[in-house]
Amino acid sequence: MTSPSPTADDHGEVDTVTEVPVAIVGAGPAGLLLAHLLGRAGVETVAIDTRTREEIESTHRAGILEADAARTLVETGVSDRILREGDEHAGIELRFGGRAHRIDFQDLVGESVWLYPQTAVFVDLADARDRDGGTVHFGTSGTEVLDVESDRPRMRWTGPDGTRHEVRARYVVGADGSRSQCRELVPADHRTQHAREYPFAWFGIMAEAPKSAPELVYAHSEHGFALISQRTESVQRMYFQCDPDDDPAAWSDDRIWTTLQARVAGEDGFRLLEGPVLERTVLRFRSFVQEPMRWGSLLLAGDAAHTVPPTGARGLNLALHDVTVLAEVLVEALGGTDAALDDYQRRALRRVWRAQNFSYWMTQLLHAAPGGSSFDLRRQLGELDNVVSTRAGRTYLAEQYTGWPTRDTD
Ligand code: PHB
Repeated sequence: MTSPSPTADDHGEVDTVTEVPVAIVGAGPAGLLLAHLLGRAGVETVAIDTRTREEIESTHRAGILEADAARTLVETGVSDRILREGDEHAGIELRFGGRAHRIDFQDLVGESVWLYPQTAVFVDLADARDRDGGTVHFGTSGTEVLDVESDRPRMRWTGPDGTRHEVRARYVVGADGSRSQCRELVPADHRTQHAREYPFAWFGIMAEAPKSAPELVYAHSEHGFALISQRTESVQRMYFQCDPDDDPAAWSDDRIWTTLQARVAGEDGFRLLEGPVLERTVLRFRSFVQEPMRWGSLLLAGDAAHTVPPTGARGLNLALHDVTVLAEVLVEALGGTDAALDDYQRRALRRVWRAQNFSYWMTQLLHAAPGGSSFDLRRQLGELDNVVSTRAGRTYLAEQYTGWPTRDTD
């Protein structure tokens, strides 16, 4: 990295200028894992994020890591905390018609997933960057990305102390999440956005209560979907299908528990263990993909390029897969073969569309469409029965949920 020096040009004054091969917009799990993998290959990066570290750490996100993603984090030296503090889940439960049906991942496909919250993945990655001397700036403002159509793109931002910074790079990666500013840099007449909206959202809670089940429970009911997840022995994460315009503040603890209990009730007498609701949020979601994922010297990764409904727990896993591929091709490109980057979109998108299908499928399988008829409900029960009644049906779900080995989709 060159030492900081003041400069001025047609885009205005900056106080510091540094040069690194790769500048990264967004220091969530995707941006930080990319920085980590490039760092291991001897490639320096600067990553920036508008959020403070504390803000990212206190935003609750999904909790499931597929086997390959967990292996990447452990084997590349980010975290062995997953193995010590994560919970290995060898299956999930599907509940419908008031009964439980276990999908045994280990038996069906010989894999498990890890319940390890995204915030913990972020903390491990941020700690690993600190440990390895990587450069990450949180709490930035006024981000600008310039000259992406040239081979000298620049990233500019203002630090929390008001200092204006510029990084000159060979490539800029937009890993700036679902409200990405980087994806807007692909000119409108050169990009395609594929999207699907859903007429429902998730009401997510953190509750102080013991675990109600040892594994995740995905519940279908005539009243709508519910998901029972866990965090610790005394704090649980649960969701239920709600209206996208629901106001979380309008829901009392009582109303939340009554709703959740009705969605998991059944002839087996299953009941959730209740406790004070510590947090409540309404989470809207959609399916979205923007192509191309490369524009000149700009590459998009993770939620900046695609988002999925949370039902299949694919979002974080897809983001981590994107940057694993991206790190590989960037190292080749920086070695002189720019054409290596042409492979990125093909390899990333293949998995993205498989995951789009799975997330869409799980969503429509388990949620009640507003205004749906008794036919719709019975047809869903028929589909669920097809999934759990044959080994082929259960294996289909297990393969998708545990993720596809990288070698199968690349
Ligand atoms: C979670 O624990 O937050 C979670 C787990 C599985 C999902 C979505 C969210 O599909």
